[in-house]
Amino acid sequence: MGRGYSRDVSKPLDKRTVLVAGGAGFIGSNFIRYLLDAEPGVRVVNFDLLTYAGNVRNNAEVEEDPRYRFVRGDIADDADVSGVFADSAIDVVVNFAAETHVDRSIEDAAPFVRTNVMGTACLLEHARRAGVSRYVQISTDEVYGSLGERGAFREDTPLEPNNPYAATKAGADLLVLAEARTHGAPALITRCSNNYGPMQFPEKFIPLMVANAMEDRPVPVYGDGSNRREWIYVDDHSRGVWEAVDKGRAGEVYNIGGGREMANVDLARMVLDELGKPASLIEFVTDRPGHDLRYAIDCSRIEREWGWSARWDFTDGIRATVEWYRTHPDWVREVRDGSYRAYYERHYTHRNATLTSFR
Ligand code: NAD
Ligand code: DAU
Repeated sequence: MGRGYSRDVSKPLDKRTVLVAGGAGFIGSNFIRYLLDAEPGVRVVNFDLLTYAGNVRNNAEVEEDPRYRFVRGDIADDADVSGVFADSAIDVVVNFAAETHVDRSIEDAAPFVRTNVMGTACLLEHARRAGVSRYVQISTDEVYGSLGERGAFREDTPLEPNNPYAATKAGADLLVLAEARTHGAPALITRCSNNYGPMQFPEKFIPLMVANAMEDRPVPVYGDGSNRREWIYVDDHSRGVWEAVDKGRAGEVYNIGGGREMANVDLARMVLDELGKPASLIEFVTDRPGHDLRYAIDCSRIEREWGWSARWDFTDGIRATVEWYRTHPDWVREVRDGSYRAYYERHYTHRNATLTSFR
């Protein structure tokens, strides 16, 4: 039997050990870099299954850092999660681990239900037994559904997810809130708008456009391109998540947003322009079923309560992102042809990492 939520919370935040689930993905890896840079006293355990979307190359900058450890494991596997909690005295859990691509969830919802719902339940269970001092669930504005022409999602906007991915993220959010209310978990949720930046898997809109356009291949835009998304540079999201660990209150939801809303077709033109490629590369393709029309986030709560605000200007962020992909053609090639998996086997076999072979 575990202790339940009894851990001493007086331990200074910057001396804690943070379990980052999903830390080999796009946002989780950015968060780990941010955290190790911002907080010299923290230790990080990166717990990641390394699905197709997980790439240990994303952690290359920190892998020699003595405060960093990688453990391969599945958040939905009781033995894996039990093992990582037994190995390290975890103080804080930040859960980025998820199946994240809407189009894949439309093809097959099963892995989304398993990881996003069952995995969250499993992590919560072990976090309770370990008596962690904080659990942060990384959620998404997609749980609120779709907006019309006006307005923005607030934290009290009802949950109306429209696609399987969003439905599983909403299910996970409800489990987190239930854990806080039923068991007194020090757990809270952040819901963020669309992220962009370096190392995003090139199935997502912005890196897909950049990767295709760099090879003069068509850039697919769903429907007529009028769907709108609100964009945030990933560094701003990471900073918001650490503020959530520090300043968030148990059982609460906090929206994080970048404030820059744009129609997809306008974004496509902007990215192509930045790459010096013609707008004629845009190819309008069959729309995504149930495609949400518009997302926009009201994040005035964290601006007011935490003093957080997005720092990245959108034009600068797109420029930095395009530049990163332009200067890292190997990363894109290896992700696209799958050879980063061979790199993983080679690189980690002789290192201090908990390994099982690739599933
Ligand atoms: P990603 O797909 O790039 O990374 C997901 C990571 O989770 C990968 O490293 C993968 O290997 C790992 N993972 C998947 N299943 C796992 C499992 N069962 N056990 C352990 N690890 C597993 O995703 P991302 O874009 O970095 O998103 C991270 C989180 O942020 C997700 O929870 C997502 O819902 C949320 N989010 C993303 C965005 C966005 O725009 N990308 C916006 C808001 C919220
Ligand atoms: O809003 C937050 C969400 O943003 C996260 O929770 C998800 O994990 C993340 O994947 C993202 O979801 P979206 O569906 O908004 O992102 P995606 O990059 O897939 O698509 C962005 C927009 O671009 C969306 O309106 C669909 C459109 N699109 C996407 C692709 C892949 C295209 O027009 N063409 C494409 O090829």
